[in-house]
Amino acid sequence: MLKYSAVELGSPLILAPMADVTDRQFRLLLKRMGGIGLVTMEFISSRDIHIRHKRLATILQYSPEERPISIQIYGSDPDLMAEAARFVEDHGADVCDINMGCPANKILKGCAGARLMADLPLARQIIRRCRASVSIALTVKFRAGMDDDRLSYLELGRICQDEGADAVALHPRTAKQMYSGRAEWSRITDLKKILSIPVIGNGDVERPEDVVRMMGETGCDGVMIGRASMKNPWIYRQASSLLRGEAPEEPTLVDRRDLILEHFRLLRAQEEPRRVMHKLRTFTGWYTRGLPEGRDLRVRIGSLESPDHFIRAVMDFFNSQAA
Ligand SMILES: Cc1cc2nc3c(=O)[nH]c(=O)nc-3n(C[C@H](O)[C@H](O)[C@H](O)COP(=O)(O)O)c2cc1C
Repeated sequence: MLKYSAVELGSPLILAPMADVTDRQFRLLLKRMGGIGLVTMEFISSRDIHIRHKRLATILQYSPEERPISIQIYGSDPDLMAEAARFVEDHGADVCDINMGCPANKILKGCAGARLMADLPLARQIIRRCRASVSIALTVKFRAGMDDDRLSYLELGRICQDEGADAVALHPRTAKQMYSGRAEWSRITDLKKILSIPVIGNGDVERPEDVVRMMGETGCDGVMIGRASMKNPWIYRQASSLLRGEAPEEPTLVDRRDLILEHFRLLRAQEEPRRVMHKLRTFTGWYTRGLPEGRDLRVRIGSLESPDHFIRAVMDFFNSQAA
């Protein structure tokens, strides 16, 4: 059983933090489907936490059903990061995750995210200060390094372990690569070889079979899944079946329809109408990709002016698919 300090993860499969994606409705839906050991919120700026930015009120909401839950923070100032970690603990998170992998320019310019991989003394200080300020599990998520000439994941991994992190997650692309090329899983193997704390592999898991392959090839203790969760939210349940040696079940049309309707129901109950329209267009896009005539539904939903006609459009679409 994978454990982060005292936190037992019922499954070694982890939802990767994704800005604008891993919100409370999406996390809850995935959790209810089963197979997930830990869900993660999108990253939150330590500066926003310091000034108690008003967006925190929305972003930090979660339901007890999602537990265990990890909240990710980022920043470059050790004082602010320590304060943010304490805030996360006070907010009831089971795990505080430090982002040292974000490759976005805006974040790199602030010397945060993956930029810390090029300033390991600062990275160490941040981890040390965060460790000292919380008693919940502390994890660090990072990439391979800034670019191919500045690979620092092995050193950073050792620093995390020395400073008392409970686990690390590696997305083995460089910051320069962003999302191009492939994630080099052999780097996960290398990291696993030198650390005794759990190593979570991440990157390019597209199908449930990839989970088994990543664990087999790299020896990693858990697998974190990002983009594939949107296209196939059943991937955790399917991969869990495979890990138990059972055949994974494919979602039926009814499963897809029910997922869309349930997502809609949660959104309506929890979000303001303006955001409901925006979000339902987005998630219907994810869940209907690859379905014959899925585009028709996306177009129809794109032209809806209010959420009221959403259920009709979805029912019509799936009835026509079934016929
Ligand atoms: C839309 C989007 C938003 C992301 N936001 C975050 C984030 O807030 N924090 C983070 O550590 N990684 C973030 N990531 C990176 C993912 O957590 C993950 O490391 C990456 O997508 C590789 O995994 P995958 O191939 O399974 O998608 C984001 C990725 C995407 C696609």
